[in-house]
Amino acid sequence: MSRNTKQVPKEEIIKQLETCDIVRQLLAKKPKERKALVDTYGCQQNEADSEQICGMLSQMGYGFTDNVEEADLVLLNTCAIREHAEQRVFGNVGALVHSKRRNKDKIICVCGCMPQQEYVTEKIKRSYPHVDLVFGTHKLWQFPSLLLSVLQNKKRVFAIEDEGGRVAEGLPVLRKFSYKASVPIVNGCNNFCTYCIVPYVRGRERSREIEDIVREVKDLVNGGCREITLLGQNVNSYGKDLEKAKDFSDLLIALAQLDGDFLIRFMTSHPKDASDKLFAVMEQYPNKIAPQLHLPVQSGSTRVLTAMNRGYTREKYLELIRQVRARIPDITLTSDIIVGFPGETQEEFEETLSLIELVEFEALFTFVFSARKGTPAEHFEDPMPIVQKKENFQRLLDVQNEISERKHAEYIGKTLRCLVDQIDEKGNVIARTPGGRRVHLEKDCGKLGEFVDVSITNASKWSLFGVIQK
Ligand code: SAH
Ligand code: SF4
Ligand code: F3S
Repeated sequence: MSRNTKQVPKEEIIKQLETCDIVRQLLAKKPKERKALVDTYGCQQNEADSEQICGMLSQMGYGFTDNVEEADLVLLNTCAIREHAEQRVFGNVGALVHSKRRNKDKIICVCGCMPQQEYVTEKIKRSYPHVDLVFGTHKLWQFPSLLLSVLQNKKRVFAIEDEGGRVAEGLPVLRKFSYKASVPIVNGCNNFCTYCIVPYVRGRERSREIEDIVREVKDLVNGGCREITLLGQNVNSYGKDLEKAKDFSDLLIALAQLDGDFLIRFMTSHPKDASDKLFAVMEQYPNKIAPQLHLPVQSGSTRVLTAMNRGYTREKYLELIRQVRARIPDITLTSDIIVGFPGETQEEFEETLSLIELVEFEALFTFVFSARKGTPAEHFEDPMPIVQKKENFQRLLDVQNEISERKHAEYIGKTLRCLVDQIDEKGNVIARTPGGRRVHLEKDCGKLGEFVDVSITNASKWSLFGVIQK
């Protein structure tokens, strides 16, 4: 398929930008500035989408607020990854009915991954009549015209067609931070892990052109951005759908060669497609590419991995870990684990425990399996009682906590170049190590977005503590 059929034509993007002006003029007639509240759930991809939504809202003349009562427009950008995530959103959408009663003109939008599933949209149509606008991930770039239609016609709008996926370049972005940014490089997913909803709600993989990404990163760096996180459900398959033969390593090299003092991170790497070629590039550019790898393993049992359709074995995974550590010995490794996948036996769970003890990740993101409608695993036999799954989950946490504590203790006495990442109203400061771990610094030291040399003085299972070296 030619690239052009996948990229939204420029004229259509221009039309959306013109629609922003029409909305702006419409709102200018109102007595006071209109305000929007954007509530984001889920992964960094959704956070990045929300920055585009905020970019479009700002272009349409909206200001922003955290206060629901004050908001003229409330938008929930939703996540469908686990049942719990969806229940939270439904609860919050339901609660908005009161606020809508108090202000009939308030516009309520639900977008993102959830409405891309038919049953969700049907439920909103039926049970949440106070929701005015529902659109899926494929329609994000059409937000201005969808909103205009709601404003003009005062009728509910549902736009959830699945276009399979296109790339929309040139939309405005309102970034939350000036010193760090996320840059999506490939949208969607082709992997169809049997438990996962993402391929159904995000469409097929489509990569952005390398030139578009390089231009965006260059502009960010020139604007003072110090940390850039490249995003994709499987960054290692970047470029496979492009006409020009470019892969993720080519992209990393192009970015690492840009001038400036900045660090590149990326997530998520898929063990099926990660390779020593990638690790070699990371080794080659230690000052530009962070020594960090989030490599979700999901399970330590090859049988379970096969049932999950992950495309690698326990041995292949351990070999990848050996390769990356051979090249970058102090790399920060993290992973995701699903406990209680349907049919996982107690022995197979023990294999997961043994894998995490072998690898010694610095941190894990752990989840109990949650059946998602429309995925193959929804119908797999699942004999293990939930109490047993929860017990296993707790055991996994306990084992990992011990490992994290041990790994963190190894930092004590080291000096690392860290980026000051957060300063709260009480003056508490948090910086990030090159590998992405959090370091608590002394109060009122360092400037947000500044690189500082930090001596690590203490550590716990959750985080590190340090002082800035003058
Ligand atoms: N693309 C990434 C993961 C994105 S989802 C990858 O392949 O690694 C983030 C994590 O959520 C997954 O790694 C998995 O551990 C977890 N997850 C996804 N679907 C799930 C489900 N149905 N139940 C429980 N955990 C799930
Ligand atoms: Fe989901 Fe698998 Fe795709 Fe990750 S790679 S988003 S887990 S289907
Ligand atoms: Fe959730 Fe969609 Fe991300 S389902 S995890 S927000 S891609």
